[in-house]
Amino acid sequence: MKYMDMLALLGVGGAHPGGLHLTKQLLEKEEINSDTSILDIGCGTGQTSAYLYCRYGCEITACDINATMVQKANKRFEQLKLPCKATIENIEDLSFDNESFDIILLESVAAFTNLSSSLKECKRVLKKGGIILAIETVKEPQMTEQDERLVSEFYHFQSIPNEMEWVEYWKKAGFSTVVSRREYKVEVEVEGEDEEQNIDFGTEFDLSDEIPSNIYDLFDDHERLTKKYQNLLGFCIFRCIS
Ligand SMILES: C[S@@+](CC[C@H](N)C(=O)[O-])C[C@H]1O[C@@H](n2cnc3c(N)ncnc32)[C@H](O)[C@@H]1O
Repeated sequence: MKYMDMLALLGVGGAHPGGLHLTKQLLEKEEINSDTSILDIGCGTGQTSAYLYCRYGCEITACDINATMVQKANKRFEQLKLPCKATIENIEDLSFDNESFDIILLESVAAFTNLSSSLKECKRVLKKGGIILAIETVKEPQMTEQDERLVSEFYHFQSIPNEMEWVEYWKKAGFSTVVSRREYKVEVEVEGEDEEQNIDFGTEFDLSDEIPSNIYDLFDDHERLTKKYQNLLGFCIFRCIS
């Protein structure tokens, strides 16, 4: 079993650094209204897509390569009675027409794919002047090749670029403006007051009916690796304009 199968069977929602709280904060900075068309690629169980529709009433297209994720996203939409539908799509070969979307969201997705193909596809389906918001894993300078191999094998990352390498990938794919950010603070409202703190929020689970027992070993390995590489793997927020 692979890491991504584990996420799908456990139905992990908010499976990206910063979770939904970081997502909310990034989206608040954008101009989004009911006419905005947003593509959530690698939507997982649909947490962000559902939030987007509830908050902005915008046009949401959710997709993921994993059928279990798509099924769980659709279950969420049905339970919430949202007019959204997730479909199976591969970011490297999307079925959408050219220049279809105002905004594309990639929340911990692209690093699992062939970056040259996937970023080029994103550029193709994004309208001129459209925006990509991506929260992606970056490699820190101290990471050795051996560590990188080990981490990539476990998570099935196709590559783990450092921040500058990511910027180069975005530019090569044709994005004109690429802004990257490493630091973020999540603002949380507590009883009407704004409190600022660094948080990694927000996982939820939607378990499949049948969970193979080896999934728990995999989960333990994931926890162990996360701890071991916490200083060698970071994440970065990219905002790129088509
Ligand atoms: C770490 S999870 C993040 C899920 C979701 N964005 C979230 O934040 O909860 C990565 C997701 O990317 C999807 N994915 C991986 N490769 C993909 C591809 N080639 N095309 C579309 N989705 C892909 C996986 O199936 C998985 O749902």
